[in-house]
Amino acid sequence: MFKNAIVRKPGKSLLNGITSASLGKPDYNKASAQHTAYVDALQDCGVKVTVLEANEKFPDSVFVEDTAVVTAKCAIITNPGAAGRQGEEIEIKEALKEFYENIESIQAPGTLDGGDIMMVGGHFYIGLSARTNSDGAEQFTRILEKYGYTVSTVSLKKVLHLKTGLAYLENNNLLVTGEFVDLPIFAKFNRIVVDEAESYAANSIWVNDKVIMPAGFEKTKKAVTEAGYEVLTVDASEFRKLDGGVSCMSLRF
Ligand code: GLY
Repeated sequence: MFKNAIVRKPGKSLLNGITSASLGKPDYNKASAQHTAYVDALQDCGVKVTVLEANEKFPDSVFVEDTAVVTAKCAIITNPGAAGRQGEEIEIKEALKEFYENIESIQAPGTLDGGDIMMVGGHFYIGLSARTNSDGAEQFTRILEKYGYTVSTVSLKKVLHLKTGLAYLENNNLLVTGEFVDLPIFAKFNRIVVDEAESYAANSIWVNDKVIMPAGFEKTKKAVTEAGYEVLTVDASEFRKLDGGVSCMSLRF
């Protein structure tokens, strides 16, 4: 179960965030309101949420998940794979010092985004992507092995991050879409397959037996509800315009 979450408010510079989407510029006021509702949803799941102030210097800094990986035994500060995001991790490290004695770091030339890491109990799947390179993955592996964790790597072909297309919902249930659906490495899970038309909904999060999911994806919501979860939906339209989703906006531990 998670006790804590860390989020960062979006800044007005959000409009200049990195994107591959063609959905237009995010609206700052809408993004702010959506972020507040997201924090409310996390609180409804029973976690204490630390809300960091916006950091205008970094347009993508609302996506805190990319800056650290938080486990039961340590926090690992990343070296984000997008050059314009390097530096976001510095303030996150300060925030995590309140919660962790063991803080490790990925060093250049290694790069790693937290969005490329999926935790399944004591096993971590690492997506090798445009943001996470093999050096970053090797450093991450060495750190985790020191704490008794195990890892597997998955090479990404199309999507930005591993968790763009996957969400582990505990109890062996995996929400999965696109290039990950037929990968043998995920065959052991009870796969809840998300239609391509609803692929954005694969970026959802399990928080203490509830699932927070983007609003507007009824087929996926129904499938997750039928799998036994209470689903909380939040409008994430403004973050989607920057390739971001509900997992990217928090660290949960
Ligand atoms: N806009 C989020 C990212 O590219 O990391």
